[in-house]
Amino acid sequence: MDKGRSGETMKLGAFFHPTGNHVAAWLHPDAQIDAGTNFRHYAEITQTAERGKFDLMFVADAVATRDGKLEALSRWPQYMAYFDPLTLLPALAAVTTHIGLCATATTSYNEPYHIARKFASLDHISGGRAGWNVVTSSNVSEAFNFGRERHYDHDARYDRAIEFVEVVKGLWDSWDDDAFVRDRKSERYFDPAKLHYLNHKGEHFSVRGPLNVARPPQGHPVLFQAGSSEVGREVAARFAEGVFTPQHTLASAQEFYRDLKGRMRKYDRPPEALKVMPGLNAIVGRTRKEAEDLHNFLQSKIHPDVGLELLSNQLGGFDLSEYDLDGPLPDIPERHFALSGLGNTRNIIRWAREERLTIRQIYQRFAAARGQRTLIGSPSEIADDMEEWFRGHGVDGFLFHPSHLPGGLDDFVALVIPELQSRGLFRAGYEGTTLRENMGLERPKSRYVSN
Ligand SMILES: Cc1cc2nc3c(=O)[nH]c(=O)nc-3n(C[C@H](O)[C@H](O)[C@H](O)COP(=O)(O)O)c2cc1C
Repeated sequence: MDKGRSGETMKLGAFFHPTGNHVAAWLHPDAQIDAGTNFRHYAEITQTAERGKFDLMFVADAVATRDGKLEALSRWPQYMAYFDPLTLLPALAAVTTHIGLCATATTSYNEPYHIARKFASLDHISGGRAGWNVVTSSNVSEAFNFGRERHYDHDARYDRAIEFVEVVKGLWDSWDDDAFVRDRKSERYFDPAKLHYLNHKGEHFSVRGPLNVARPPQGHPVLFQAGSSEVGREVAARFAEGVFTPQHTLASAQEFYRDLKGRMRKYDRPPEALKVMPGLNAIVGRTRKEAEDLHNFLQSKIHPDVGLELLSNQLGGFDLSEYDLDGPLPDIPERHFALSGLGNTRNIIRWAREERLTIRQIYQRFAAARGQRTLIGSPSEIADDMEEWFRGHGVDGFLFHPSHLPGGLDDFVALVIPELQSRGLFRAGYEGTTLRENMGLERPKSRYVSN
């Protein structure tokens, strides 16, 4: 019986929040407590993911600490002390050989030249394993560190992002692949005919170029996108090659998958040029009971202040502290939507209305997985579910969020990966050496080279 997608294998990414994805991960006795600033920790978990043949590891970023009630924040260390990803990833490149190294960089508080240069450098240092998650900044406090009193509105920041990415891609093409001849005989280092000035003048940026880095080994580092709103989807269809998205049911994942791939036609892009990788907060044990015990332990450690703070954050700063934790979610005024990530906000409001969840139940669900889908079970139960979503064209792969680190990743690699491999759903060895080769993505031609 053809189960669908025979011969195809899924893509897997590992999302490394420093101590793990669960908001109380750091309270697990085996979690690396100083993870955010512990290089050995990152080296070990990245090597573990590489042993598990993951396509990529990914670190998120913000250019600000989180703001809010300090009493709550002091019980929740995430993103208060952690490495700058573009300093961390080149160091990880030196201790790994195949795994893709992907990080967020914001288009709202950077200049395209800086970003083009850093990711091109990472691509060279890693031998073609760099990936950039293009975000427009979900932490509204970033504005205060960059001369602004208010974050850009949702659509305005996507507008800037589109031009930003066009400029970065243009800068990556500054040099033809074979521009650097480095020929001692003719005493010629580069061929001037193979150098290109971008001369971009747009609404947001004016960038002459060229970039002071040779064309990256992958041509362009792989572009990821993680917004699922209407404009987020449009932007993804336009340039993303990997999409991270919270999807909670197979039906919604299939709708998202079809919608996104359908939108790509407009931009003359084939559907296989973009891999949809919804988040998966998989908690695995040797038995279902073991997995449930782990989940229950982490859930029991969510401090109500932290739960409320996390929720309020997702609701554009709406203060919930005066409301009954065991009562319904109040109406959230529209203006909060403009500041928050619309995708997550709408999911939360939908849970509240459709499933009649209380504030406490919502934050417990959200805190466990940061809005991603949670799956708790034995290795075969987890693999069954992943297989169903993959074969059912809901996904091309998953972005796995380990609940706590390193334990949650160790367990997944030891228990779930072999199960997926034995079903022929996941690779036993890397197909190539670059992230593009492993993800089955074409190497982009330079805009200056005709066929
Ligand atoms: C897996 C994942 C990772 C993300 N990483 C970051 C990040 O590192 N920094 C950031 O500011 N936003 C991050 N986001 C938020 C998105 O970039 C986006 O702002 C958010 O999903 C809201 O966009 P939307 O309104 O289009 O859905 C992430 C989202 C997801 C699903």
